[in-house]
Amino acid sequence: MIMLGIETSCDETAAAVVQDATDPTIRILSNVVQSQHGEHRPFGGVVPEIAARSHLQHVDQIISAAMVDAAVGFGDLDAVAATGGPGLIGGVIVGVMSAKAIALARDIPFLAVNHLAGHALTARLTHDVDFPYLLLLVSGGHTQLLIVNGVADYERLGTTVDDAVGEAFDKSAKLLGLGYPGGPEIEKAAAKGDAAKISLPRPMKGRDSCHFSFSGLKTAVRVKVRELCDQGLSERDIQNVCASFQAAVADVIADRSRRAAEVFKRKNPAGRHLVVAGGVAANLTLRAFLETAASDAGLELIVPPPALCTDNGAMIAWAGLEQMAQGLTSDLAFAPRPRWPLDPDAPVAGGAGVKA
Ligand code: KG4
Ligand code: ZN
Repeated sequence: MIMLGIETSCDETAAAVVQDATDPTIRILSNVVQSQHGEHRPFGGVVPEIAARSHLQHVDQIISAAMVDAAVGFGDLDAVAATGGPGLIGGVIVGVMSAKAIALARDIPFLAVNHLAGHALTARLTHDVDFPYLLLLVSGGHTQLLIVNGVADYERLGTTVDDAVGEAFDKSAKLLGLGYPGGPEIEKAAAKGDAAKISLPRPMKGRDSCHFSFSGLKTAVRVKVRELCDQGLSERDIQNVCASFQAAVADVIADRSRRAAEVFKRKNPAGRHLVVAGGVAANLTLRAFLETAASDAGLELIVPPPALCTDNGAMIAWAGLEQMAQGLTSDLAFAPRPRWPLDPDAPVAGGAGVKA
């Protein structure tokens, strides 16, 4: 079966063609991603209206490029999947309408994919991981710990009560005058800094719940930067703040993941994997902390390659194939969803700006 996947929920216009081969190394036939980072950089964050217009302008050529790269024609497609939410609604509409048009014209099934399910199932595209597994989802918009029981069966153990971790990287980078997106910039600067020179808090560390909080850490960075600015903020200071921030983030995420691993193992004694997904999974310090946390919990850490951790069309096409195998196709009347929690029954985490 051959699936076209379209991703337009944030600041990447992406399309990919994926087949359901048994060998994971030959599944991805093409994977084309056009980032809008340059368009959003002057604003230090994603501007929804700019994103929507850019998706509309580029989606056709990105889909064509994915088809050409895969050396398939529209007649070869068995189905077409698009991110149906959650995300910036203007962009989601662009992807969903493109997929519906192809499905209608070719008379093939259309599949609306939850963007978070795309991230969650990527480990099965690359590593054939069996259900259930523990998932740490760390991206620009989400920070969650979930048990993945099946293609459409998720139990949320923890979430952020305020900012997402990627957002904390991006906002802290902005405070430090670094570029956008902030995660890679902070990682680069941190490599030259000394985390021990500056102390930052570890919000939520040691709590019984599996929740996260990052807004206090971001405020602590702001206070620290203001103090340092009074003495003249040097390149060295920026590197030290980055190293300390990155260490604090990795420390709390590893701590929360250890807590979630206890809950996961209690519910699923045979469960074997901790899977990490989302753009922040590219961070090498975080990976090192998680490697230790996973092995202490008796779990194997699975991290897909960086290009499949950040937003892409292959994860949407793969989730589409998984849904197709379960008969979970969508109606052409499907309405794009700005919010779409993976676990609609999860208890509210508490806190002012709770993100589902
Ligand atoms: O999953 P993703 O591509 O988009 C969303 O769905 O949000 O994640 C983007 C986020 C951004 O906040 C970016 O700063 C962060 O991932 N990121 C990183 C790294 N690379 C990307 N954060 C920390 N370290 C990195 N190396
Ligand atoms: Zn994402």
